[in-house]
Amino acid sequence: MPERNNGADTKTQSYTYADNDGGLYAWLQNFTSRIGDGAGDPEEEFLSLVRLVANCKPNSNFLEIGCGFGRILRIIEHSVGSVVGLEPDFERFRACRDDFDDGDRIRILQSTSGEYIDSHPGHHFDIVMVSMVLQHVPTGTCDRILRDVRHLLTPEGVAVIATTQQEIERFAFQWSPDFYSEEEFNRYAMDFGNHEWGLPVRAFSKASFRRVLELAGLSMIHWGQFSYIRPEKLEWVASAFHVDPEAIRDLGTSQYAVVRRGAIPSALR
Ligand SMILES: C[S@@+](CC[C@H](N)C(=O)[O-])C[C@H]1O[C@@H](n2cnc3c(N)ncnc32)[C@H](O)[C@@H]1O
Repeated sequence: MPERNNGADTKTQSYTYADNDGGLYAWLQNFTSRIGDGAGDPEEEFLSLVRLVANCKPNSNFLEIGCGFGRILRIIEHSVGSVVGLEPDFERFRACRDDFDDGDRIRILQSTSGEYIDSHPGHHFDIVMVSMVLQHVPTGTCDRILRDVRHLLTPEGVAVIATTQQEIERFAFQWSPDFYSEEEFNRYAMDFGNHEWGLPVRAFSKASFRRVLELAGLSMIHWGQFSYIRPEKLEWVASAFHVDPEAIRDLGTSQYAVVRRGAIPSALR
């Protein structure tokens, strides 16, 4: 097995996430769930799937890697047996801990998944969640987080993993109009603390998402997409992404997979 500690290029003590979620609500107004009249949360498809999985495993122990301020924890906290939330950014960790950690059934730790594995050998989870994390980390860290997911799952466990989607894979920075090479993206993503263009944002294609999951030995049970561009915003988003509007009209800008432990690819054994 290759090294699985994702602390190597994500230094927990000094890792900072270059956003405070302040503009999130306004950003989400550009998208629709395509459910009902579309007036609800554009991420409803994904959030209701999370609710469903948690309620199907009511006594489960639940892990979220990169829990941020606890948006997902708020949905599942009363549906599962116990909760561990991991968050490397200190300010986000502290806010989440203050809101959720009860010192017993719900624990919030300032940690990456690799650090958690090293300090809690033998701990496994029935449900593992990685929501909107993979697109913001270097590609090597993404691969290691996914291998950690496989390692942390119980044999019957399931993981729900959500990230970005575009028609082809692209590497970008939040406030830059340009696209970058994978090498440039990785250099920028590793240089946290100096994110003058905002967050690093990797847009996965459906194929590249499937590839990183398979590479980590995760087998897909179910895939879905969500957060479609509102028709009146289509031209604007297409020109910002330099794409033909037709290519993205019916494409969810986010995607999720429900996975379980599969075979480890022979190249990694
Ligand atoms: C877009 S937020 C998502 C928060 C939450 N999962 C949600 O869906 O609302 C991404 C989070 O991933 C965290 N993160 C960044 N690098 C990470 C890593 N290597 N391991 C775990 N979490 C990480 C960030 O600090 C941030 O809180």
